[in-house]
Amino acid sequence: MTVLEVLNAASEYLRKKEVESPRLNAEHLLAHVLGKKNRIDLYLEFERPLGEGERAPLRELIRRRSEGIPLQHLLGTVDFLGNIFATDARALIPRPETEQLVEIVIAAGPFEKIADIGTGSGVIAGSLALKFPHAAVTACDISPAALDLARENAERHKTTELITFCESDLVGSLAGPFDAIVANLPYIPQGEMASLSREVRHDPDLALDGGPDGLDLIRRLAGEAASKLAPGGLLALEFGHGQAGQVFEILSSHNFRDISRRRDYQNIERFLTARHG
Ligand SMILES: C[S@@+](CC[C@H](N)C(=O)[O-])C[C@H]1O[C@@H](n2cnc3c(N)ncnc32)[C@H](O)[C@@H]1O
Repeated sequence: MTVLEVLNAASEYLRKKEVESPRLNAEHLLAHVLGKKNRIDLYLEFERPLGEGERAPLRELIRRRSEGIPLQHLLGTVDFLGNIFATDARALIPRPETEQLVEIVIAAGPFEKIADIGTGSGVIAGSLALKFPHAAVTACDISPAALDLARENAERHKTTELITFCESDLVGSLAGPFDAIVANLPYIPQGEMASLSREVRHDPDLALDGGPDGLDLIRRLAGEAASKLAPGGLLALEFGHGQAGQVFEILSSHNFRDISRRRDYQNIERFLTARHG
């Protein structure tokens, strides 16, 4: 079978197994098996015959993908703002929306002292350290496993010297003041956890579960962040669909000003920035 025939067969199989974007998934997985940096490189080789040595590992990956293992866990990496980060079951798979959160913070910078609360795989802290190499970045998480992954990503990007990693319940163990605090905390309402897609259920519960209305952690952070922010310091948050109004109210009640609600590329209100004091 040629590259094109294998791709067609793999996409059809994934489609029958109700995997979203079956063709894209098949292309990513075949590019991974063939060691291609970019799936588009496959387009130059559509007529190339594939031997069993290449088809067997692809079959295995397609089988696991059809069982709901996320594509990113099979590839082991994600591209986040043009940098490659490792991703696995130790932390949330970074989402494309979060790239926008980082872009918002970058546009408001530069900053000297930044904290990323709930760093997960470390994509926010890592991207900000790469963008602001003169800043002191603190990355904290309550999950030691996530922090291990974030440290590995810092080694990958040679930002270990720029980032202080800290196991902490929100900002509890951190020494401020920071001129920017960024957080993409869990925000799924508990009652919705059971109906998440099979792919999302591969993310740790600790990265998703935001309590009864999804806002437990954001509510707590709004209260605690004030004591760790320099006067006029920036708080930048990501949250879920339909939560912008409540997050606005929470921040208003904690002496934040210049509160600005921002939409993601799907036109969903997804981020909020505010200044303290
Ligand atoms: C939605 S994930 C975001 C991960 C990463 N920042 C990203 O955007 O891809 C939320 C993260 O917050 C962490 N977390 C949950 N509760 C926490 C707490 N009380 N204090 C600190 N981190 C917490 C989770 O372990 C998880 O890594």
